[in-house]
Amino acid sequence: MSIELTWLGHACWLIKYQDHRILLDPYLNDSPTAPMKAADVDADTILVSHGHFDHVADVAEIANRCGSTVIAMFEIAEWFASKHQVKNTIGMNIGGSLELPFGSIKMTPAVHSSQLPDGTYGGVAAGFLVLMGDKKIYFACDTALFSDMKLIAEKEIDVAVLPIGDQFTMGPNDSVRAVKYLNAKQVLPSHYNTWPPIEQDAAEWAEVVKAGTITQPFVLLPGETHVIESN
Ligand code: NI
Ligand code: MN
Repeated sequence: MSIELTWLGHACWLIKYQDHRILLDPYLNDSPTAPMKAADVDADTILVSHGHFDHVADVAEIANRCGSTVIAMFEIAEWFASKHQVKNTIGMNIGGSLELPFGSIKMTPAVHSSQLPDGTYGGVAAGFLVLMGDKKIYFACDTALFSDMKLIAEKEIDVAVLPIGDQFTMGPNDSVRAVKYLNAKQVLPSHYNTWPPIEQDAAEWAEVVKAGTITQPFVLLPGETHVIESN
């Protein structure tokens, strides 16, 4: 059974598995690099890592059109329910796991801030460990490098998705250190080349990953899909 992981630019990822559509951090309508608009994406589940505009912008539009379940930090889930009339929300918090129709998720720590666009407190920023079939995909989301990534590595990750943009998250050098901590089989870069401050040479980053780690890097263009075979 294939897991299709499509980069929709910036920090937005669409996962297709069986008949499930899981969307992470949709930022499409205003993103300079998104290959499609919010109206073009269907999702049964939307994962939200934190409250910043470049992660929450299109969540409500898609959720309210598709009837998606929005899963986020408790404060953010409450905000979508009360301020954006999202009907199906599930709040969780760091360290918590959740069984879902496609598999399960665990909310992991991230070192980052998380205020919502209207100034509402959004709790703390998070990442997600997503389990599907026999595969484990770790989305670090917006974060600095932190040594507890070594704890996440104990889960034996198949695919890690890491920010490399710098300034707002870890940059290329720290993300290579994260790759070493995580020991995943594969790694994909995220959260870069959206705007000039986070422009990075992903091909050069991939060469450093190849030369210095056991992890295989895959660099996508917005709209491209990476396929993982799951049992
Ligand atoms: Ni952010
Ligand atoms: Mn961001």
